[in-house]
Amino acid sequence: MAVSYRELGLVNTREMFKKAMEGKYAVPAYNFNNLEQLQAIVTACVQTKSPLILQVSKGAREYANATMLRYMAMGATALAKEMGCEIPIALHLDHGDTFETCKDCVDFGFSSVMIDGSHHSFEDNIAVTKKVVEYAHQFDVTVEGELGVLAGIEDDVSAEKSHYTNPDEVEEFVKRTGVDSLAISIGTSHGAYKFKVKPGESVPPLRFDILEECEKRLPGFPIVLHGASSVVPKYVEIINNYGGKLDGAVGIPEEQLRKAAESAVCKINIDSDGRLAFTAMIRETLAKHPDEFDPRKYLKPARTELIELYKHKNLNVLGSAGKA
Ligand code: 13P
Repeated sequence: MAVSYRELGLVNTREMFKKAMEGKYAVPAYNFNNLEQLQAIVTACVQTKSPLILQVSKGAREYANATMLRYMAMGATALAKEMGCEIPIALHLDHGDTFETCKDCVDFGFSSVMIDGSHHSFEDNIAVTKKVVEYAHQFDVTVEGELGVLAGIEDDVSAEKSHYTNPDEVEEFVKRTGVDSLAISIGTSHGAYKFKVKPGESVPPLRFDILEECEKRLPGFPIVLHGASSVVPKYVEIINNYGGKLDGAVGIPEEQLRKAAESAVCKINIDSDGRLAFTAMIRETLAKHPDEFDPRKYLKPARTELIELYKHKNLNVLGSAGKA
């Protein structure tokens, strides 16, 4: 049965992005798959009075069940209210791959969807994105498109270059599709292995020149940055100290994300950092208490750590604290 996001207490991203653009900060888009992650995200954003985009991937919908997720998001808005701070919360589909997936999410109460046609040709990307926009806008659901592909860690330099967003294409893409925001590729990538760096070497800077070119072509238009985890070294170390094996995991330095948040980048996507913090705390707790088998006993410290992580991001990286 189709349900409107408004019935779930959610909002779309339009107003959030307008304010973020004016206020020179970025709205956090945090991914979740389970109850503890959701509780931590909402708690951190309420405590820091930050607007929030709750992000769900296709895989998360499969993992947690689409109906369950709809009501978890509704629970999130109710929880925020109960905590005494009604922050704006959007429920967003991360990397929708087809029109059908996006339509299903619109019908299921999402207030925002991403159609990722970046792997298609320019014309095919425009066609599928436009189709999603036409459907979603009937229900005032906002749509994020993508131009340029986020480079993978294994790509060599020239392949990486060819994946960056071409600023010459952004204006036509936005005009012809009617999207509400655009994800661009400026050197970030998904996951915990973003760069290959030798010990002591610093990571290459993001391509702020491409971002600036895109801003020039699309004045006042919201840009989205994917792959923005910093891969917090503290968590990688804890994971490796307690039986894990994450060799050479490197992310985006916080200063670069701060700089991006002050630009037209209005939404910053963070997933891996949450996964790392959660896993680190579970590994540490179980290693220190090998007799423990009550999930609450090891999920609680993981949830507590997540709250601290997200508060830190809102306060010190994205600048979204106090903006709700
Ligand atoms: P990270 O893997 O850097 O957290 O990126 C997440 C993301 O962009 C989700 O769309």
